[in-house]
Amino acid sequence: MVIKRVIERVKEKVENLQDAFKKDVIPPVEKALLSGNVQTIITEQYRLLRSRLSGLNGNHASNVFAVTSTRKGEGKSLTSVNLAIVMAEDTKKKVLLIDGDMRKPSIHTFFNCKSEYGLVDILSNKVDIETAVIHSKIKNLSLLLAGGPVESPSDLVATALFKEIIEKLRKRFDYIIIDSPPIIPFADMNIIGDIVDGILLVVRAERTPKDMVIEALKSLNKENVLGVVLNDSKKRLSKFYY
Ligand SMILES: Nc1ncnc2c1ncn2[C@@H]1O[C@H](COP(=O)(O)OP(=O)(O)OP(=O)(O)O)[C@@H](O)[C@H]1O
Ligand SMILES: [Mg+2]
Repeated sequence: MVIKRVIERVKEKVENLQDAFKKDVIPPVEKALLSGNVQTIITEQYRLLRSRLSGLNGNHASNVFAVTSTRKGEGKSLTSVNLAIVMAEDTKKKVLLIDGDMRKPSIHTFFNCKSEYGLVDILSNKVDIETAVIHSKIKNLSLLLAGGPVESPSDLVATALFKEIIEKLRKRFDYIIIDSPPIIPFADMNIIGDIVDGILLVVRAERTPKDMVIEALKSLNKENVLGVVLNDSKKRLSKFYY
């Protein structure tokens, strides 16, 4: 069965993050690895995820990743941020983190930064890439925030310009991570999934029903799903997802 095959391709899990973050009393900026507040074990888990990613897809170079989840609130943004940070630090290559969740942008909160422009503004032809991409405090890590509010983000994602922009950015950066919208209830991931080299599906352990994960996986281009990041897990993946 196709879906079973996809689930068998689970490559990584990030365990016990909960212990480090002590729920939501901690502001996002402190949950990002840049604060230096999180335990080394967490950093190590993201490092492992990063190194597994570079080993995936055989000879085919994977440079552009979308981080998504079946529905909202499963840890897409947190995973994108921390993955981008370890990627920039470990590989010393140029990394770009894009806030592609235009309905619910949050990357700026992790980095405690502001920018007048972002992805929305490039997509609506207001500014060029150079104006919208900003540096983060982390060496080698640049950010493209979501930008101005937009009524219909799906329409922007569906334009040829979106693909064009990603192709242009691909030439300027070694790795690109897109914090993406959830798969349900939008169609955006169908488009984003075809543009990127690989999709990471974040699953909030024991919160996301297995059927929902299967439905979500069915709607994606399965060849592109690199693996599942099991977020906030205390148990082994197999107990819940098989
Ligand atoms: N492993 C974890 N342990 C504790 N809290 C977590 C963990 N992962 C995520 N959270 C918290 O859950 C909330 C949602 O996380 P995050 O914003 O990364 O998810 P998201 O999938 O991007 O959500 P949205 O769909 O709303 O954009 C945040 O408050 C985050 O700090
Ligand atoms: Mg988010």
